[in-house]
Parts: sequence; structure tokens; C-alpha cells
Amino acid sequence: MDSFSCLNFIDYSVFATHIQPVSLKFLELAYEIHDEKVIDFVNTLVIKCQSKKGNSVMNNAQHFWNTMFANEEEYLYGTQPNAYIQMQSPRLKPNSRILCLAEGEGRNALHLAKLGHTISSIDASSVALQKQKRLLQAHGYTIDALHQDLEHWQPQPHAFDAIATSFMHLPKPLLSKVLKHSVVTLKSDALFIGEFFSIKQLGYSSGGPKDSQKLYTIEDFASHQEGIEFIELKEEIVHLNEGTGHQGQASVIRVLFKKLG
Ligand SMILES: C[S@@+](CC[C@H](N)C(=O)[O-])C[C@H]1O[C@@H](n2cnc3c(N)ncnc32)[C@H](O)[C@@H]1O
Repeated sequence: MDSFSCLNFIDYSVFATHIQPVSLKFLELAYEIHDEKVIDFVNTLVIKCQSKKGNSVMNNAQHFWNTMFANEEEYLYGTQPNAYIQMQSPRLKPNSRILCLAEGEGRNALHLAKLGHTISSIDASSVALQKQKRLLQAHGYTIDALHQDLEHWQPQPHAFDAIATSFMHLPKPLLSKVLKHSVVTLKSDALFIGEFFSIKQLGYSSGGPKDSQKLYTIEDFASHQEGIEFIELKEEIVHLNEGTGHQGQASVIRVLFKKLG
């Protein structure tokens, strides 16, 4: 029996009125003591409580990530771009219109803006969006940042020359929906560049969710073939050096595909 199985025996109204408010307070304390295992446990508890209560993913994602990004002085994953996005960015056409999905505090957006591209972003965390804007403004760039849960994203067809995303960890059905929407919003020949933690990341302590529903296999991406051609799809062990949030050896899936005409 895992640590949460006992929750199945508690009435839903007890979750809503007693466990959820306490668990949210507990979450704030867990961040203060900065213990990854405690944060993980409490966050899973909060998410289980909220999903029992019927709250939206937005509330879960927003609350969790606003707390994670709360330190005004720190960029949790640093301000340097994700290595895979940096490695693939020479493929981008000059002056591309790029959408950064689940962009967090803006490190990939800054890199791509510096290369002369026009950047839009989507993220569920209001704190992340404020930090993105601040980071880009500090370097003389602007960003068109949309505060939205990807669950409710209505993609504009044929709008972007590329999508870039790193460590966007969504429940698998939502990932699938977001990949389909990504194809809709890309122009012909446009690129999707993404790095994600693989399921094998459960064996590493360099960051990422501990929830297997938000960790992926190659098949989670390879099952999407319609209207796209994979240029690269591989699982590998890399060394992450991204702020305090991602440090050390990690198992990742690197995804690069092109939308067909
Ligand atoms: C691990 S962080 C990665 C941030 C950034 N891509 C980076 O690599 O620095 C995950 C990001 O996904 C966002 N996110 C999580 N669930 C989301 C959802 N349902 N809709 C939109 N954004 C979401 C979080 O707010 C957070 O900014």
C-alpha cells in the first residue's frame, strides 16, 4: 500500500474542508525547509486532494509552480537556455515567430529573442510570467506571454515557425492533446523542439516530477505521426546544470519534428 492509499477511504467532503487547506499550508512549510522528498510528498497530497475536490489542473499547476518560482532573487532553472534548445536553434529560420510552451521563468525565450526571433509563451504560473517579462525586459526584449493552462489552449492554426519547450511535464492525456495542438499551430515545415524527462528519471535525483504519469517514454511521442516527420526522437542520459532545480545526471527524451506541408 503506498502512502496515499489511505486517502481512498476518506469521504470527499473531508478532503475539501479539512485536508486540502491544511495540505496547502503544509506545502508552503515544505518549501521553506527545502527538502525535496517532503515537497514531493506534500505536493502529491495537495494534487490528490484537489483532484478529489474536482478542482482544475490550472489550480494545481498554478499553485505548485507559483510556489516553486516564488523566490524573486532566484531563477530556479537558471537564465541560460536548455542545452537541447540551444543545440537545435541554428535550425531556426531567421526572424522566426516562436512559441515557448510551459516556458517558466523565460530562459529559453531570452535565448531565442537574442537570436532575433519574436517570442510568444504560454504558462499556467502567473509568477513565471512576471519573471519572464522581467528577464526579457532587462535585456531589452519583449515577450507576448499568455497566462493559460494548456488544458484550455485554443491553438491558432498555422501561426508559428517553431515551438520550443523544455521539461513540460503534463499528465499523459494532456501531453497528447498539446502535441496535437502544436501541429495545428505550426506552419508547414515549422519545427517542434523539446526536451522532457523520461520515465527512467525516477532513478535519478537531478529534478523532475516523481509522478510516472508525467514522465514519458519514446512511445508517448512516436505514437504521434499524423502530419509530422520526426527528425530526432531519442532517450539519453545527459548532465544537467540548470540553476538549482536541475543538477546532475538525468534521463531525458529529446524530440525534434517538422510539420509536413
Ligand atoms: C519544470 S518547469 C519548466 C520551465 C521551463 N520550460 C524551463 O525549462 O525552465 C514546468 C513549467 O510548466 C508549467 N506548467 C505545468 N503545468 C502546466 C499546464 N497545465 N499549463 C501550462 N503550463 C504548465 C509550469 O508553470 C512551469 O513553468
